[in-house]
Amino acid sequence: MDTSENRINIAVLVSGGGTNLQALIDAEKAGRVKSGRLALVISSKPDAYALVRAQEAGIPTEVVSKKQYGSEGMEKHIRRLLEMYGIKLIVLAGFMSILSREFTTAYDHRIINVHPSLIPAFCGEGFYGLRVHEAALQRGVKLTGATIHFVNEVCDGGPIILQKAVTVSPDDTAQTLQKRVMEEAEWKLLPQAVSLFCQGKLEIEQDFVKINE
Ligand code: GAR
Repeated sequence: MDTSENRINIAVLVSGGGTNLQALIDAEKAGRVKSGRLALVISSKPDAYALVRAQEAGIPTEVVSKKQYGSEGMEKHIRRLLEMYGIKLIVLAGFMSILSREFTTAYDHRIINVHPSLIPAFCGEGFYGLRVHEAALQRGVKLTGATIHFVNEVCDGGPIILQKAVTVSPDDTAQTLQKRVMEEAEWKLLPQAVSLFCQGKLEIEQDFVKINE
């Protein structure tokens, strides 16, 4: 039975609007996050709209900014909170801070990130948010998409869990492309990957992800 005792506690780390967090909240409400429970939202920015979404859904929130704690202090504080809330899975949903090797090693294969392109295209340091879509348009690709992957010490370099392609339209702007990638790929794939993780269906084999459906 899927009681709160045997569900995996999930923390979602955010910095902005939180539409991916909303997709997770909606999926949980609809029973699509099997064996998982959104237990905590941590924002790196005090004014992130994602915090409002979390509060409206009744999820505990914390703000841990670099400005307040410095880089090292920020991670230490986040780790303390993760311990306190018994977190077993961390989801980066538009979290705009790069985590240290020490942090990613401590949570090896327990951190999932959503990236708005088909990795290995348009990823790595400096590629985040709208910049990713601007770069895709500048290169003239006809297809882009989203990737859900485990996080390791290499920025956007961890094992890939799910990917979905999205068509680029000739009249796309970075904004219209971002919206389509979110609607058609990110908001679908992220809850799906989280649910697979919580059900123990993701297996790592020599740094590749095998999905046992
Ligand atoms: C999303 O498009 C997410 O893929 C991207 O930031 C946006 C956050 O939107 N993440 C990255 O670019 C990470 N490299 P949201 O706050 O509405 O979920």
